[in-house]
Amino acid sequence: TKDKVEETRELEWALIPPREVSQVDGIVLEKNICNTWDKVWNFQAKPDDLLIASYPKAGTTWTQEIVDLIQNNGDIENSRRAPIQLRQPFLEWFRRVTPGIDQANAMSSPRTLKTHLPVQLLPPSFWEKNCKIIYVARNAKDNMVSYYYFQKMNKALPEPGSWDEYFETFMSGKVMWGSWFDHVKGWWKKKDSHPILYLFYEEMMKDPKRVIRKVMEFLGKNLKEEVLDKIVYNTSFDVMKKNPMTNYINDPEMNHNLSPFMRKGVIGDWKNQFTEAQNKRFNEEYEKHMADTSLSFCMEL
Ligand code: A3P
Repeated sequence: TKDKVEETRELEWALIPPREVSQVDGIVLEKNICNTWDKVWNFQAKPDDLLIASYPKAGTTWTQEIVDLIQNNGDIENSRRAPIQLRQPFLEWFRRVTPGIDQANAMSSPRTLKTHLPVQLLPPSFWEKNCKIIYVARNAKDNMVSYYYFQKMNKALPEPGSWDEYFETFMSGKVMWGSWFDHVKGWWKKKDSHPILYLFYEEMMKDPKRVIRKVMEFLGKNLKEEVLDKIVYNTSFDVMKKNPMTNYINDPEMNHNLSPFMRKGVIGDWKNQFTEAQNKRFNEEYEKHMADTSLSFCMEL
């Protein structure tokens, strides 16, 4: 019965050993990735590779599905051919059956790849081959809350502890893939010298069609209005939440009973999580970290 399946899943999930981390150049990453870092660093990108880059929980999967649907001219069936992580290999990922690098190497071109690496750790071949890159960023407060719940439900990441503990870890940048501040600023700066389309979760929420059109133009495609409307609908939160090819429902490392992968999908959820003191402290730190950049974020609905 369904209950038995659920129960077995819960037990299996509980038995997965906790994640071990290490560091590459001061950036916390999964231990296996660190131990085989040369393999990631020496990855050979091809000129027609498209890279989707982001800080974890910024709206990566959403962007991935938009890109896949645009590439497939809005063909829903084709986009449901496989789970998103198989359609678009996660470059520096290790834990799954096939490491992301091997998956990417085995794939025929043109490839679309995903990474959460901070800009300074991206394999140099992406710059040398002048690959197109789409970066998506999300305001830090919502990003932090989303990351916290994700670390709770995903055995592929360290257990986050209490919210108060996690708040400190996040602010110190000692979370996997490093400091949010350095990540969003680093990629922002790089777009001055490289073809990077820099998107914001908040602009996608407010006007998805506008952003989808922007992505389409960046990819050099020209789709009809009705196809764009179809993509808007099929990449909406509610549809993606029900779609087993985008909601990670079959990922054994994730426990959706603790917190679903497609959790809330809103702007401003941080207001339900931050204490007043945390918000004050965050705002002060934010001012300091963001003083040297033209990048700015919307944190309100
Ligand atoms: P929440 O935890 O705030 O709900 P990533 O793909 O980078 O891991 O990001 C996951 C976050 O994006 C989650 O945020 C998830 O709910 C949200 N998300 C995924 N698809 C979305 C969509 N189509 N519309 C809005 N938010 C979406």
